Amino acid sequence: MKKRFLSTLALAGVAAFALAACSSSGDTESSDGAAPADGGGDMITVGFAQTGSESGWRSANTESMKTAFSEDNGFDLVFNAADNDPAAQIQAVRSFINQGVDAIVIAPIVEDGWDDVLQEASDAGIPVILEDRTVSASDDLYASWVGLDFQLEGQKAGEWAAETFTEPTNMVVLEGTTGSAPANDRATGFDMAIEGTPIEKIDSQTGDFTRDGGKTVMESFLQKYGADEIDLVYAHNDDMALGAIEAIEAAGAVPGEDIMIVSIDAVHDGMQALADGKINYIVECNPLLGDKAAELVKAVLAGDSVEKRTIVEDQAFDQEAAIEALPNRSY
Ligand code: AHR
Repeated sequence: MKKRFLSTLALAGVAAFALAACSSSGDTESSDGAAPADGGGDMITVGFAQTGSESGWRSANTESMKTAFSEDNGFDLVFNAADNDPAAQIQAVRSFINQGVDAIVIAPIVEDGWDDVLQEASDAGIPVILEDRTVSASDDLYASWVGLDFQLEGQKAGEWAAETFTEPTNMVVLEGTTGSAPANDRATGFDMAIEGTPIEKIDSQTGDFTRDGGKTVMESFLQKYGADEIDLVYAHNDDMALGAIEAIEAAGAVPGEDIMIVSIDAVHDGMQALADGKINYIVECNPLLGDKAAELVKAVLAGDSVEKRTIVEDQAFDQEAAIEALPNRSY
């Protein structure tokens, strides 16, 4: 951990920030579950600002990060989950800067609003690596990003819909968190792919990437239009699709038949619903980004040059492919 920032005065500030992080910006913990502390020796202290715990994908991503940034691998991880609150996430990053961590990793909840705090990290000489989502700030303000091509994911889902629906089709959309890169890009990719097809987007609302959110929004769509008037649901992630399935079944309709569903992630519960015929198509979003993020942190701290962007490839699954893949999926 960097010592140069820790004057007596700063230490008092750190204690205040750490307390604030615990109380108002979600859970902050170090690798051993105790309060954030100096790893000492040759350990690399990394502050990781996670979005929260909104989905099955997020749980798999957090596990991948915690495994890669383990003590055995030479890291003292200070973990914060911001409960999907962008202001709390920025506050957590400021806390990491004040603690003088060696590097900061961020899974940004939303794209905008990062310029100031990234500049502060840069001024403090602390490299920032982004994982999963992107930001709109200049890429001069962070060292590298590892993640997924969200627009391509949306495009693949849209291409499936365009091939499947050749008659007039009413579609509703369950959007991810407003302002997040995956919600923005998955909408763009899908909309481009269905342009000129008979698919009409009759409504689109955010379900915040959560199962409860997807269920609540789907219930309101069913109430507004009736199950007979909805042919297709495009869910920006599996958790919202799983919530929609509950709402569709409660309305007396059959998910996957009366109302077809396409979603993104390919987490275990989503893949099981696809295998069971309740979801019709899933585009993968690979959450196992921890090893690459840890490799980037080590390379950047060693002064090695690194790629600015690393995109991890995704697959897509229909029912048959899901049945085949399920026994060997690790998340
Ligand atoms: O940023 C990746 C997205 O965030 C996943 O698709 C979603 O499930 C998660 O909450």
